[in-house]
Amino acid sequence: MLTTSLLLLAQAAAPGPEAAADASDALTQIGRQDSALLKFVVDLAYLFAAVLLVFGLKMLASPRTARRGNMVAAVGMLIAIVVTLLDQQIVGPWVILAGVIVGGLIGMVAARTVPMTGMPEMVALFNGSGGAASAVVAIAEYWNPGSVVRGDLTFSIGLSILIGMVTVTGSLVAFAKLRGMTIAGVRLGNPLALPGQHVINLVLILFVLGLIVYLTGTPGATWAAVLIIVVAALLGVLLTAPIGGADMPVVVSLLNSYSGLAACATGFVLENTGLIVSGSLVGASGLILTQIMCKAMDRSLLNVLAGGFGQDTAAAGGTEAREGLTVRKMGAEEAAMVLEAAQSLVIVPGYGMAVAQAQHIVAELADLLRDRDVNVMFGIHPVAGRMPGHMNVLLAEANVDYELLRDLDCNPEMPQIDVALVVGANDVVNPDARDNPGSQIYGMPIFDVDRCKTVMVCKRSLNPGFAGIENPLFFKENTTMLFGDAKKMITEIVSELKSA
Ligand code: TAP
Repeated sequence: MLTTSLLLLAQAAAPGPEAAADASDALTQIGRQDSALLKFVVDLAYLFAAVLLVFGLKMLASPRTARRGNMVAAVGMLIAIVVTLLDQQIVGPWVILAGVIVGGLIGMVAARTVPMTGMPEMVALFNGSGGAASAVVAIAEYWNPGSVVRGDLTFSIGLSILIGMVTVTGSLVAFAKLRGMTIAGVRLGNPLALPGQHVINLVLILFVLGLIVYLTGTPGATWAAVLIIVVAALLGVLLTAPIGGADMPVVVSLLNSYSGLAACATGFVLENTGLIVSGSLVGASGLILTQIMCKAMDRSLLNVLAGGFGQDTAAAGGTEAREGLTVRKMGAEEAAMVLEAAQSLVIVPGYGMAVAQAQHIVAELADLLRDRDVNVMFGIHPVAGRMPGHMNVLLAEANVDYELLRDLDCNPEMPQIDVALVVGANDVVNPDARDNPGSQIYGMPIFDVDRCKTVMVCKRSLNPGFAGIENPLFFKENTTMLFGDAKKMITEIVSELKSA
């Protein structure tokens, strides 16, 4: 191809009027051939990137392949970015490169400095920036002075602005709720709804969809485009505000899905295959994840979105006083003795393990006991912690063998297990979810640790967990509380075991 082009160029450089006409034809031909070839290469590269993204996602489904999956998907995204750089139809390569460097640096610093417990907030902000990027590109495309907007494109532009803006403002509200922010004394983490809120939301959704249809038929109606931006931004706030802080991880996952859908719509605006494919993959996987989370909490998505559940835990508070109920306590020395005598142990970690950053010492405890022939396994609840896979990530970081990780399927084995050690978990081991139809979390699957011979619960107090409700497990006869910070308590138990 290069030699043909050079030959044709050489021909174009030859003197004489006939030669000049030939040369002009030749140059046009080169241009056509080159752009056809470039389009072919770009499409092929986008297809390859899409395949890598699909395989990467598939590999993320198992802890064994998750790290490699992350790398595979990252390579896919890198290819898509490099190809976009070559394609150059959007902005010049240097602008994109500068964006990659600045964005990459921000992402790297954020990922390195954020504490594990701050992850959902960070993901909320990142989703918001994804939505903002899509909305801004669509807005710029609509007001692009160099081109007349086509009617069919205005539909995609409208959708992109709608979903993008809902994602931006919704994510900002989610961030504020997760941060436990207050405005004028109002705790944002609590469900905040106006009277008739759902009807207002429905009317606004129908109104904005009507505006998009109108804009498609009348692309020049800039007032309609401005109104779409404003109403969509308002909708993001109104749809997220009524949802309690406790349900925010589900909402963040849903907003993640929205950011993918917005990118997909922007892909149609820019007629960019890479963006359409990656956006729809994010959209679909976000929706599947949202569905999995709802199922694990035994709630429907509609129930979550309708809001009202899950007051902010900080607001829910808790009290130590439990009249007529006995709480058994134990120190590290006695706990070490119980563990030493056990033949089988299930460790159920929860959010408190993440707060205490106790995963490494918990892993060390498991190794120590396995060396002493105790049959150790970890019970990993799908919604333990504050984000999907939270416990898996922590335990992988501490190099716990994923063969030891069990899900709720191990419940039938509980009555045969000598000791259940609950580390900073609460709602995921609350027997009320199984036994008490009046409980707020009734129906949510739990680990039946109360059916083990002995239960040891390590947490700092009797305070409730995420759902803000009391846990009768703490008062059962076979339960002993190990009050204290999880890292400190397990470290003490490990040193007791080592010195025994
Ligand atoms: P929680 O029920 O929230 O309980 C965590 C417990 O950790 C608290 O009761 C707290 O008690 C304790 N804790 C906090 N800091 C500690 C520390 N430094 N050392 C020891 N303990 C500490 O957690 P869970 O059992 O993991 O359940 C997760 C909850 O989140 C469920 O209700 C679930 O539905 C909800 N949720 C999860 C997700 C995802 S995807 N994971 C999504 C949506 C909702 P003290 O204050 O007494 O120490």
